[in-house]
Amino acid sequence: MRVLIPAAELARRVAELAGRIDADYRLVGDGGGGRRGHRPRAQDDPLIAVGVLKGSVFFLADLLKRLRVPVAVDFLQTASYGAGGEHRGEMRIRKDLDLSIRGRDVLLVEDIVDTGFTARTILDLLRHRGARSVRLCALLDKTAARQVEVPIDYRGFAIENVFVVGYGLDHGERYRNLPYIAVWQAEGEPPATAPTAPTPPTSERSISGMQFHHTDQAPAAIGPYSQAVSVDGWLYTSGQVGLDPATGELVAGGFEAQARRALENLRQVLASAGCGFSDVVKATVYVVDLADFPRLNALYGEAMAEHRPARSTVQAAALPRGALVEIDLVARLRPGAG
Ligand code: PRP
Repeated sequence: MRVLIPAAELARRVAELAGRIDADYRLVGDGGGGRRGHRPRAQDDPLIAVGVLKGSVFFLADLLKRLRVPVAVDFLQTASYGAGGEHRGEMRIRKDLDLSIRGRDVLLVEDIVDTGFTARTILDLLRHRGARSVRLCALLDKTAARQVEVPIDYRGFAIENVFVVGYGLDHGERYRNLPYIAVWQAEGEPPATAPTAPTPPTSERSISGMQFHHTDQAPAAIGPYSQAVSVDGWLYTSGQVGLDPATGELVAGGFEAQARRALENLRQVLASAGCGFSDVVKATVYVVDLADFPRLNALYGEAMAEHRPARSTVQAAALPRGALVEIDLVARLRPGAG
């Protein structure tokens, strides 16, 4: 299975969503869930978070642990998919709410909005029961699968049209406890829905002529950036740390292992644009401890072979994910590439 969203990315995004939800529900007022309110939310008027069983429980728990506003928790369960993953075309409530939501601010928490039938049906139901306000928070948004319109107020990640498991999501009741989101694929079988991992390197060209590169052989760019961008004959990579693209985690083994992995990630990113280390003109290296410099030089020299691009080396107080080394490159594209 291919890791789509590593655990650390989930944690980071959940914290961001919790921050937004806190800000929006901190005050209670006349019109609904928050911003226009006039008084701090009282303990006896908590936000009611409604989790949709079973998939949302991991996300719901992590999200609620980060909320500061008074919050009560309840659960709903619907039946919408058969064990084989097929939509049955009808929906019924298998487990209803315990709490009354009349006059309350309700936040529906979903692990994924797929066709949209589940969220749409529950949102309508909650409104029908006289909630003061109803909003939707969904960790994953599979827009390509949408069949009914569902406004998502708090969205974790937009994902491609693939069957995902982990962090609450299952395939035949398995894999819910994976700490990350992965693309499900049975061993030796074609994927449940296309496309699957590993996909060949891809690139998109914008109207400005920039080309944005992606390869599954290096850690995914989960955030507002690309693994590499080429323009006007030059390739600029994002910084790579020693993350294993298969797990989304830093490799074990300390500085040398991380440096090797970061260089391998860069090799893959360069390759996705038709380049190699011999095309690099400039490298920037960040290390948390300059005492590691000699070890870095050895590995870096190995990767570059006889090639000697320009380089800056900086000691940084801290690097993303607690990494010990990060490297980014500028390379010249080969004729006809990029
Ligand atoms: C999944 C998921 C959502 C719903 C989304 O639940 O948790 O509730 O499907 O699909 P839709 O947008 O196409 O309606 P599922 O019914 O599989 O139950 P589970 O959470 O117990 O796995």
